Amino acid sequence: KKIGVLISGSGTNLQALIDASQDPLQHLGAEIVLVISNVPQVEGLKRAEKAGIRTLVLRHKDYEKRVDFDMAMDKELTLAGVEIICLAGFMRILSIEFCEKWRGRLINVHPALLPLFKGTHAQRQALEAGVRVTGCTVHFVEPDVDAGAIIVQETVPIEVYDTEETLVDRIKKAEHKAFPKALQLLATGKVRLGSDKKIFWC
Ligand code: GRF
Repeated sequence: KKIGVLISGSGTNLQALIDASQDPLQHLGAEIVLVISNVPQVEGLKRAEKAGIRTLVLRHKDYEKRVDFDMAMDKELTLAGVEIICLAGFMRILSIEFCEKWRGRLINVHPALLPLFKGTHAQRQALEAGVRVTGCTVHFVEPDVDAGAIIVQETVPIEVYDTEETLVDRIKKAEHKAFPKALQLLATGKVRLGSDKKIFWC
């Protein structure tokens, strides 16, 4: 399957997807053909270029409406033959139109065990709540933020000495395992989104 990845930053999850897709032993069934960033000059773009993957910067500020920006991305993704989109630290909320067009073929990674701690600073939310276990979630994207059927979750313990920074790092390590795993499940047809928006294991 041809994969498009949307990023806004450092791209460590993108790197995990690149590494997995280039490792023949992992049988990911997925090839990244396009990386789009809404922020210029981020580390993630350099990672893609180093791996020989086509990159594109589309600045959301250049578009009047959210949906116009989304449709510009949609056009590029479609032209590139993309079949599955991975959101890897993409810090923009997607329009209903985009989510509906790509429903079932659009996945995101979130740094908490959803449905807990939705939104931004999920790691800080977990620390403030005092939970002793958190983790990460890879899920299908729906117009409601951090909703959508769950494909893979990994748990991560919270240590007594954790700061937001150490927890962010530990959760990222879990994301780097969970994201390729979820992409493989989708790309190889082992999981799909049912018409009722619930997960369907094939
Ligand atoms: C990750 O923690 C992901 O869960 C969140 O944004 C972060 C992206 O990190 N959505 P990176 O750019 O992949 O390093």
